[in-house]
Amino acid sequence: MRFKTITWEKGKIVLIDQTKLPGRLVYARCSTVKQLWQAIRGLKIRGAPAIGAAAALGMVLGLSKKNEKSYLELKKNINTLFKYIASSRPTAVNLTWALKRMRNAAVANRGKPVAAIKKLMLKVALNIIDEDKAICREMADSAQELIGKNDRIMTYCNAGMLATVGCGTALGALYRANELGKNVKVYSCETRPLLQGARLTCWELHRHKVDVTLICDNMAGYLMQQKRIDKIFVGADRIAANGDAANKIGSYSLAVLAAFHKIPFYVVAPYSTFDLSLSSGREIPIEERSAREIREGWYKCSMVPRGVKIYNPAFDVIPNSLISRIVTDAHLVKPPYIKNIKKLEKLNTA
Ligand code: MRU
Repeated sequence: MRFKTITWEKGKIVLIDQTKLPGRLVYARCSTVKQLWQAIRGLKIRGAPAIGAAAALGMVLGLSKKNEKSYLELKKNINTLFKYIASSRPTAVNLTWALKRMRNAAVANRGKPVAAIKKLMLKVALNIIDEDKAICREMADSAQELIGKNDRIMTYCNAGMLATVGCGTALGALYRANELGKNVKVYSCETRPLLQGARLTCWELHRHKVDVTLICDNMAGYLMQQKRIDKIFVGADRIAANGDAANKIGSYSLAVLAAFHKIPFYVVAPYSTFDLSLSSGREIPIEERSAREIREGWYKCSMVPRGVKIYNPAFDVIPNSLISRIVTDAHLVKPPYIKNIKKLEKLNTA
């Protein structure tokens, strides 16, 4: 049965606290923007499309506490909230994409009374949620020509229902495949250090009766060598104009392994994950997170001697040359990516 990753309920943001999974399905309520910021930063809600939805609702929540007398005051508050919410996580572009959409809605309606503008902004935030559901379904359908009967598919991190408001990006394609009777078998990489693969992907796939097997990240190459993997499906947090795609740290290693073993590597992400202002993945900001997550995140005591330096980049970039196809909304984008992403941009601005 479907759970709700994030909703707007009576002036509050209600979201699944993903840090408690798989042990407990607990919902957290955010009644202040600070609580929402902390929920995003602390990965109670995570996954690019889901944090886009959270950011949009966060803007509504923040403005609901203010009582502006003029559009100028409203504009100032919107800009302050924009900067604050955007500072919660830097890599997933969906966050600023959603905030820009909210700000643009206010600008486009600046002649209206403040209360009416705020009402419209709530509508835009709820539209972002509804659209995400529809786009997930479109991506899931578009991906079907890449998935065959009984395929054994490897995935990384969590690009499923928990990472979106809909059925997911990469996992959405796999749910749809099974609805169509394709009987895919999924290998989920654990995804150190925060274990999104083990905790979240396995949780939601198992709950939806998808055949899922957990492996540690360092087992991926062995499975490929043993010819036990047919395809790899992952999500993305930001895709540059040349098709380079940032995703959870470790995605790059997986893509290199896949290329060596001649296994197709597919990225599934909504068009809102494209950042066409960046010419290549080198320009994508990579979030660095606390050493604590590696040192003692899941243990009773530190797993590293005191004083040892720890480096914890949260994302890496898959070069376009290692990506077989990008599935986005109703499109399958194939190489050459610079040319085909330009075509996609034209379709989306037409
Ligand atoms: O740090 P996270 O858990 O937010 O990282 C999430 C990912 O890397 C996902 O693969 C990505 O956001 C795509 S989700 C549809």
